[in-house]
Amino acid sequence: MHDKYNPKNKVYIETYGCQMNFSDTEIVSAILSESGYSITDNPDTADVILLNTCSVRDNAERKIHERLIHLKRYKKKNKHLLLGIIGCMAERLRTKFLDEKQIVDFVVGPDEYRKVPQLIENANEGERGIAVKLSRVETYDDIVPLRTSGSFAWLSIMRGCDKFCSFCVVPYTRGRERSRSLESLLKEIERLRGDGFKEIMVLGQNVNSYKDLSSGTDFADLLAAAAKTAPGIRFRYMTSHPVDMSDKLIETMAEHDNVCKFIHLPVQSGSDRILKLMNRGYTVEHYLDRIKKIKELMPGCSISTDIIAGYPTETVEDHKATLDILSEVGYDGAFMFKYSPREHTKAYNQNDDVPDEEKTRRLNEIIELQHKISGKLNKAEIGKIHPVIVESMSKKSKLDWQGRTDTNKVVVFPAYHGIKEGDTVSVKIERSTSATLFGKVV
Ligand code: SAH
Ligand code: SF4
Ligand code: F3S
Repeated sequence: MHDKYNPKNKVYIETYGCQMNFSDTEIVSAILSESGYSITDNPDTADVILLNTCSVRDNAERKIHERLIHLKRYKKKNKHLLLGIIGCMAERLRTKFLDEKQIVDFVVGPDEYRKVPQLIENANEGERGIAVKLSRVETYDDIVPLRTSGSFAWLSIMRGCDKFCSFCVVPYTRGRERSRSLESLLKEIERLRGDGFKEIMVLGQNVNSYKDLSSGTDFADLLAAAAKTAPGIRFRYMTSHPVDMSDKLIETMAEHDNVCKFIHLPVQSGSDRILKLMNRGYTVEHYLDRIKKIKELMPGCSISTDIIAGYPTETVEDHKATLDILSEVGYDGAFMFKYSPREHTKAYNQNDDVPDEEKTRRLNEIIELQHKISGKLNKAEIGKIHPVIVESMSKKSKLDWQGRTDTNKVVVFPAYHGIKEGDTVSVKIERSTSATLFGKVV
């Protein structure tokens, strides 16, 4: 039996996976602090540790299992420490955690975060609990996320996904698609503007299929309204689906200076046969037509993508088609993965027939080509001057700062006196790698 619930209990949250999870961590933090808990960034002094988990690929889950082995030590040191699993793995594995991992005290899925304080209380009373119902309506609309930065905000506008790509576990871990109302989003943007925020990342698993049914607002309308409501804020968004990449959306982006010229548009494969098996809902022709429109209306717009190597039945020809589309589009960046079979998905029933060494070989070929392409594009940035919003100290050096261009490229530059997070500075690019630009404030 644990000690009685102490209102000053400190909670440490460790976040894995996509931006949606990072945004959810801020929502969970807000729910907890509403209930009298405090959030700490130090696991050593925490009373409760939460792991906000990801299920998208096997290696993402493996990381969590390894972390749990580590956390046993914390539990040994502090007999009162509680450990909760939240996020997508909680939804996918449910009671398995409680059955198989004796150190886990409670499990909460993405649509039940309002119950986290109650589950902590119950666990304090010695009762291990689980809450993993998915909802058709929960959007945490009324909760003001506990943001840690004063300049950059994540703004989740929708949750879930109805696309059911055959390889993907997200529709099962996050449930059906649902959008927040335009009214509540504009109110939140207005508040962020008042609080001095400089950049907002608009988030959704399928952000451009946003639809506020009550007002008939689509994603393009929302983006336009957001850009007008807060002219001093820079807006980015992620992740868009090629099927929902309408002319109207591209036109809206082009019209507004404070909407970043950056689109993450995952293509997954360059082969029509594989795209069909993946249930992606578009052809290479449709995809390239979207790219053409983007480049026409926004020359210089940066574009990134996701690629899966070694999907079931992928042949060397299919793989070559993927290499071709990388070259044809000329992506500024890409996230590249080996296909990983996920239970419950449609592709799980298909034979995972591309041998692992062959997947690795294809993936490496893709990475190498993409590296060359982004290296070349970044080289072309040398000599240009970009307005950059200062984000944080550089990860590699305390003497440098980093921020992003309008086109989402990371820029590292020497710190100078008086510079602070959220400032906009003009940086002249002097050198580059395939991932980063380096320059000087001018
Ligand atoms: N909603 C986003 C993707 C979310 S998951 C979209 O539709 O684009 C992020 C990326 O993980 C996907 O784009 C895909 O490239 C990759 N991914 C998802 N499931 C995968 C799997 N089973 N194996 C390998 N990669 C996967
Ligand atoms: Fe997964 Fe496809 Fe939905 Fe993206 S659109 S989250 S890949 S099912
Ligand atoms: Fe992972 Fe869930 Fe995001 S599976 S990628 S954390 S939606």
